[in-house]
Amino acid sequence: MLSNERLVPYLAAAMLLAAMLATDVEAADDARTLAAPETFQAIGDAAARSAALFSEAGKVLTHPRCVNCHPAGDRPLQSENGRLHQPPVERGADGFGLAAMRCATCHQKANFEPGRVPGHPHWHLAPREMAWQGKTLAQICAQIKDPARNGGRSLQQIHEHIATDSLVGWAWAPGFGREPAPGTQKEASVLIAAWIKDGAACPGQ
Ligand code: HEC
Ligand code: HEC
Repeated sequence: MLSNERLVPYLAAAMLLAAMLATDVEAADDARTLAAPETFQAIGDAAARSAALFSEAGKVLTHPRCVNCHPAGDRPLQSENGRLHQPPVERGADGFGLAAMRCATCHQKANFEPGRVPGHPHWHLAPREMAWQGKTLAQICAQIKDPARNGGRSLQQIHEHIATDSLVGWAWAPGFGREPAPGTQKEASVLIAAWIKDGAACPGQ
């Protein structure tokens, strides 16, 4: 048997390993969860606090479940790495696809689990001016606030859209094999509300 003293280095190594694993798990959790607005209360400066709140909500905005429908080009994106949609479909004039290949041909009113096809009654692409693909959070922030590029919405209407729109809500119930957006729709909307209340400041870059 090993004496207690001789066990110490092994114990220390085991504890170090456990600590490293725990940090990894926390980091992974961190990307999957949203902190509550209270977490940012310690930031005294309202603009800095507001920007921090937007950055937290940005975990959602930059998630593939949102970005895949807010692409820079004319084709939707798919999967966790945002590759171009297969088959090759285009947004068309109204975002619901070209006349010969409408989104609803394949995307039904709800997720179709056997075929792994996502679905929603209004499944279509966000217009080009609402593209988030390839943009920094600062650029997305400026764009979301700009009525010329956000569908003529006030900040309150942006909050309402994120809080209640069911197409946005799909991102948290995306169906088979897809990672849901971080946190919950409620948590995301509470962060956006706090961001607006503190002045709707944008992060630096
Ligand atoms: C010919 C059938 C077909 C048509 C038409 C079609 N899609 Fe799809 N789409 C699919 C299938 C199948 C998937 C699931 C692929 C996967 O995730 O592996 C999919 C996935 C997607 C995704 C990925 C969702 C995610 O985050 O994982 C988006 C976004 C999307 N489609 C948008 C559209 C839009 C917008 C249109 C119309 C302009 C459209 N699709 C037209 C078949 C189609
Ligand atoms: C199936 C496609 C689809 C998905 C998924 C999707 N959106 Fe959108 N989004 C749209 C469309 C279409 C519009 C334009 C609707 C309008 O203006 O009425 C839009 C507009 C918006 C707007 C208002 C305009 C702007 O860009 O400022 C916000 C905010 C928004 N989406 C947030 C989100 C968030 C957050 C997610 C993910 C949690 C998401 N969307 C996922 C299709 C989608």
